[in-house]
Amino acid sequence: MARSSPLFVCTECGGETLKWQGQCPQCEAWNTLEQRAANARPASARARATPQALAAESTSIEGRQSSGQEELDRVLGGGIVRGSVTLLGGDPGIGKSTLLLQVASHVAGSARVLYASGEESVAQVGGRAKRLNVSATGLEVVTENDLDAVLSLAADRKAALLVVDSIQTMQLGTVTASAGAVTQLRECTAALVRFAKSTGTAVVLIGHVTKEGTIAGPRVLEHLVDTVLYFESEASSRFRIVRSTKNRFGAVNELAFFAMTESGLREIRNPSAIFLARAPEPAPGSIVTVTREGGRPLLIELQALVDRMRFGAPRRIAQGLDSNRVAMLLAVLNRHGSVSLQEHDVFVNVVGGIQINETGWDLPVALALASSLKDRALDQGLVAFGELGLTGEVRPVAYGEERLREAQKQGFRFALVPKENAPRKPLDGLRVIAVSRVEEALNTALVLRAAEPNASA
Ligand code: TYD
Ligand code: MG
Repeated sequence: MARSSPLFVCTECGGETLKWQGQCPQCEAWNTLEQRAANARPASARARATPQALAAESTSIEGRQSSGQEELDRVLGGGIVRGSVTLLGGDPGIGKSTLLLQVASHVAGSARVLYASGEESVAQVGGRAKRLNVSATGLEVVTENDLDAVLSLAADRKAALLVVDSIQTMQLGTVTASAGAVTQLRECTAALVRFAKSTGTAVVLIGHVTKEGTIAGPRVLEHLVDTVLYFESEASSRFRIVRSTKNRFGAVNELAFFAMTESGLREIRNPSAIFLARAPEPAPGSIVTVTREGGRPLLIELQALVDRMRFGAPRRIAQGLDSNRVAMLLAVLNRHGSVSLQEHDVFVNVVGGIQINETGWDLPVALALASSLKDRALDQGLVAFGELGLTGEVRPVAYGEERLREAQKQGFRFALVPKENAPRKPLDGLRVIAVSRVEEALNTALVLRAAEPNASA
């Protein structure tokens, strides 16, 4: 049976306690606990739940609708699923409204779509639609902050797709917290989930990733929704990446690539080398790796800079990579590669603002660090990938051949790879150098350019 004791919920952080207290034990705010029945759903709602044949339920998974963007469809696991709830998060200004207006307008060509904006007027959304040059027929836009009003409108219109821009601007009258507070966010999202599941309407929520403040971020909603997508990449970059970090209907860590243009986001179908705008002259600390992010090979430039430490503890800063792993590489380099960076600040960066989650970057980052320390540029025709173990061994990574073929296609001349990743047949124009130890990799990579004049700097 459901618990019947009262539950107190903090209007600031959404934390729950069984007893009333003056101060919220979680966020330490004062007088923010409000009583809520442990089971807030009315008895009538509970009585309505009836079992359904599993076979009938599972057919709804096939009710997928294209978003009009092949890249986005792939990240979603094959399109927008009927009755699903998707959260699209990202920094303000990254392109969330732009992308979803493009999607909404496409879907409106064959089904009813309601775009509810709590941020912009209908005229502003219309202005964007004009700029995007998308068709507005069949697409209904409403400016509304009251979620109940949005839901009854969506039900009334029998919308197949409901876009909520943004969840942080929505409010339920039954919740006293202000829009954007955690309780409000949670209750609004829960109401949207119930709506989606009971009507079959696909719901897409926009959530702004926020810096510390009174407005909560989309992370607190991740467990409530079916699919979570995030925009990554730097706002200054022309490119935009959408990554799936949770998906009940498909794979996670799929990536969709877009370019922000004058007329909205344009998908990039062959992204393997979009981040490879390198300086014309070879530079110490720069190297290219082939990762396999988002289900395909991707050539990316990695940069390292080591600088003699001025005071205090040495800094280790990594952008786009796990900094704990960078610290581990520094220890491996010191013990097994005779590269000591104990008295240096270390900065490592993945160019293009992409996040790399696999371990294939170990070897190239180690090479880039050594290259920066010795102020000796690596050959620009070199790519490297491979994992490093604590004993200094170079370990194989998945999809070695696929990575090598991509490097070959992009015109690279040398590939420094783990022994186990060496191809069975030689690759035209690409010399594969297979190594099994980190010291061997360092010696080989650095002599590839040994004759360079800047070596003595
Ligand atoms: P927007 O979708 O409003 O961002 P979000 O909803 O995530 O806050 O768009 C962000 C930026 O994109 C904005 O600064 C202007 C730019 N932009 C273009 O470059 N081209 C376009 O066609 C549109 C609509 C926007
Ligand atoms: Mg917006």
